Amino acid sequence: MGKMSKKIIRQGDLGFHTGAMHDFYYRGKELYCEKVRVLDIVRKVGTPVYIYSHNTLIEHVEKLQKAFQSVQPLICYSVKANSNLAVLKSLIAKGTGLDIVSGGELYRAKQVGCDPRKIVYAGVGKTEPEIEEALRYGILLFNVESRPELELIHQVAQRLKKRANISLRINPGVDPRTHHHIATGKLESTFGIDLDTARQIFLKRFDYPSLNICGIHVHIGSQIVKGEPFVEAFRKIVGFIDSLEREGVRIETLNLGGGLGVIYNDEVPQTADQFAKNILSLFKGKKYRLILEPGRFIVANGGILVGRVLWVKQTKVKNFAVTDTGMGDLIRPSLYDAYHEVWPLVRKDHARKLTYDIVGPICESGDFLAKERHLAELESGDYLAFMTAGAYGFVMASNYNSRTRPAEVLVRADRFAVVRKREDFHSLVAGESVPAFVG
Ligand code: LLP
Repeated sequence: MGKMSKKIIRQGDLGFHTGAMHDFYYRGKELYCEKVRVLDIVRKVGTPVYIYSHNTLIEHVEKLQKAFQSVQPLICYSVKANSNLAVLKSLIAKGTGLDIVSGGELYRAKQVGCDPRKIVYAGVGKTEPEIEEALRYGILLFNVESRPELELIHQVAQRLKKRANISLRINPGVDPRTHHHIATGKLESTFGIDLDTARQIFLKRFDYPSLNICGIHVHIGSQIVKGEPFVEAFRKIVGFIDSLEREGVRIETLNLGGGLGVIYNDEVPQTADQFAKNILSLFKGKKYRLILEPGRFIVANGGILVGRVLWVKQTKVKNFAVTDTGMGDLIRPSLYDAYHEVWPLVRKDHARKLTYDIVGPICESGDFLAKERHLAELESGDYLAFMTAGAYGFVMASNYNSRTRPAEVLVRADRFAVVRKREDFHSLVAGESVPAFVG
């Protein structure tokens, strides 16, 4: 366990500035979240369960607010990373807005009473009813990804006799150097509008009387640990805005997207302060308001997924720890080969160590959460925490194999609450029916 405790310290150290895991720590041999023993949660709520630390969420918002204090950006938390209502409410209470990508996320934003003037709406495939609802609610900005989308928003706004604020999402053609599934800034990706088309739209902005085309949006990818891709993209964008302004176009907002990387394993991502320092000089003297859309940075290290070892299966070549959680609950390892640390809820410091693949109960060989991990010998009934699972964890869970999705718990200091109850079989089939013409 020596190695593991070193790792905790290292994550905590770096994490003070970046994605911190320091609200999850061992007291003696037992894992805690803030002041609550994780075992107490698990005994009450069962497994699998996602557990979030309120303090971590808030601290991460504060880090960004502090780093960018001089420009007072609007921080719109990216709902897609973790959309639990309790998480959203915690963040908006701290002053954030929300970045949404669907009618469902808009519904969540309304449920928690988010100020519509702090909502930005992105996504390549918005439908007419979604656009209408967002217009009626009075959101701040639509981040528009294509010309047909622009036309549709214009028609809907005209019909409703409203004026929609529009930000064009620019694809700057920059390689964010991250996993290809989450790289969006290259020209061959689905996202954004190229500079030439964007320029034409800005120059023809008066053809759309029901639109106020006044903003630029750029998001080049996710889990970007280095500063350079951001600087490269933003420098291009600032040059573009300068050239637009020379042609008489006034830009009111520049949305820099999300994408800040966090520590899952041995990454050394830039801190919020470094990020701000790297980029703020680019915007010196500029009049437009900055918007940030962080998701992962705020919630990733604020959450864990806890599962229980059902048994250990030893084959001739491997040890498999089969758990009651897997790709249905946390798909990132299967989908992106993502690495999540595995911490036992109770450390067995003197046990011998073995190498395990930690797999789930789903009938697919792709169902694993961790591979080749060196852990103190596991046995049936042990609990394991999959760390840094607060972002893109529960939100990407599915009912595949007709498994119910996990419960979610939020911890604040010495209190905890179930913020989403475990699904049951009734909710699993709710909405399904068997018509008379079968059977
Ligand atoms: N803004 C836009 C337009 C986005 O597309 C995204 C994420 C964000 C903001 C927030 O990015 P973040 O700060 O979280 O990096 N499921 C993948 C990540 C997909 C990211 C999609 N877009 C994963 O598990 O790694």
